Amino acid sequence: MRLTESSTEAPRKPDGSPGAPDPADTLPALDAREAAGVVADALLPVLASGVIVRRPRAMSLVERTGWDRRGIERMRALRDRHGPGPLPLTVRGRAYALVLDPGDAHRVLHETPDPFSPAPLEKRGSLAQFQPHGVLISGGGERTRRREFVEEVLETPEPLPGIAGRLTRVVREEAEVLLAGAERSGQLLWDEFDAAWWRTVRRIVLGDAARDDTALTAQLGALRSAANWSLAGPRRRRLRSAFLARVRSYVAQPEPGSLAERVARTPAPAGTDRAGQIPHWLFAYDAAGMATMRALAVLATHPRWAARAREEATAGVPDAPRELPLLRGCALESVRLWPTTPLILRESTARTSWKGGTLPAGTVFAVYTPYLHRAEPAAPYEDTFAPQQWTEETGRQARSNPALLPFSSGGAGCPGENLVLSTVSTLLAALVEQHQYTLASHPRLRASAPVPTTLDHFSLAFRVQPLP
Ligand code: HEM
Repeated sequence: MRLTESSTEAPRKPDGSPGAPDPADTLPALDAREAAGVVADALLPVLASGVIVRRPRAMSLVERTGWDRRGIERMRALRDRHGPGPLPLTVRGRAYALVLDPGDAHRVLHETPDPFSPAPLEKRGSLAQFQPHGVLISGGGERTRRREFVEEVLETPEPLPGIAGRLTRVVREEAEVLLAGAERSGQLLWDEFDAAWWRTVRRIVLGDAARDDTALTAQLGALRSAANWSLAGPRRRRLRSAFLARVRSYVAQPEPGSLAERVARTPAPAGTDRAGQIPHWLFAYDAAGMATMRALAVLATHPRWAARAREEATAGVPDAPRELPLLRGCALESVRLWPTTPLILRESTARTSWKGGTLPAGTVFAVYTPYLHRAEPAAPYEDTFAPQQWTEETGRQARSNPALLPFSSGGAGCPGENLVLSTVSTLLAALVEQHQYTLASHPRLRASAPVPTTLDHFSLAFRVQPLP
């Protein structure tokens, strides 16, 4: 059963005129045993690891037990048995559909926000804890206005955003502090990296005055922990007000070259809540920190790529903004191999038609990226680190594969992608230019072996040596 044709139109009567949807057409759901398998192998590891903020102990467990691999194998088995779907299933009374076909994923993401809304109840329940007016959970005209504003401030289409000059300076200054510490101790651990990363992010987003505002990050952390429980979590309204007020205070006195300044001087219609978009950016930058450390782990264990990365990093003027295509490819590969949004959710606002049947309005479509990024749809590189598939060298072939969605795509695709890639590639360049890294933590990665399905970033540890 290959799904080649699908549409959101109402089913047609035999004479070709639109007819009322016929519930008898509804695609058959997975049986209870299969649904339980999906929950156990694919949903639970994602929920246990923490959807909004990662939980260190659970991440370690998921890595040690190979739980994510079971999720991928489960999807492969379902696809072999039932075809590519979408495969409906009911979980605690809620209608879901697994999206395993790259073409269907493309459709769902590119027909966002209508009829595939990016704001199902589960996501609204989570994200409202710290970004009640964030674009991702907004609807209708409000969503359109907020999206336009966000794209303008983040300069979404620009490979090198206008703030790249200051961004490069900030990233390199903080990398220097981090590396001085690593040289003294001879090692680089997650906690040190994380502290440096947040200093960098606060400076880029809010300005230098926020560099040491760890209290703001702690407030966000507490709200994200509550958000992990979605609607079941406690509502922390007072903490949210305090956090949002603190964010607004940086926009009220905007620092030149920061994103806060762009927010302050970019006009927007009433109701956009310009400063209210910032919490998502702070939250999402966390994922970029994970991606950076994981990319460093792969480079430390893949000497051929490390040599090419160093070559790129040391060519040109280090303090000037540069595109760094290979290091961008490393960042993209890091997110492909270890997707930071393993489940991209969309809720249909109308009955949708697929080859083989229809699905009712209110179905939550779950695009499970670990399967799309690691199994057959990711061929030919599945479990191999292949940064070149994102560069001109190979005609950016990964860009034309609808299965590869590190930053999602379509109407709610990540508007921060270029900003993230600039930040991560600039930091990786600063880290590899004059230092050599040996991965000292488990699992050991090897260039000749498939890269592990989970890489717990919290436990990453490197020995660091300055190059002679
Ligand atoms: C490695 C880092 C990042 C990754 C992998 C990433 C990936 C994604 C993905 C997969 C989505 C879609 C989420 C969904 O549909 O539920 C998304 C949405 C979004 N991202 Fe990112 N993101 C990253 C960092 C950032 C940063 C740093 C910013 C801002 C500075 C940002 C801004 C946004 C916004 C505003 C949306 C919502 C878009 C909308 O609803 O129209 N992201 N991102």
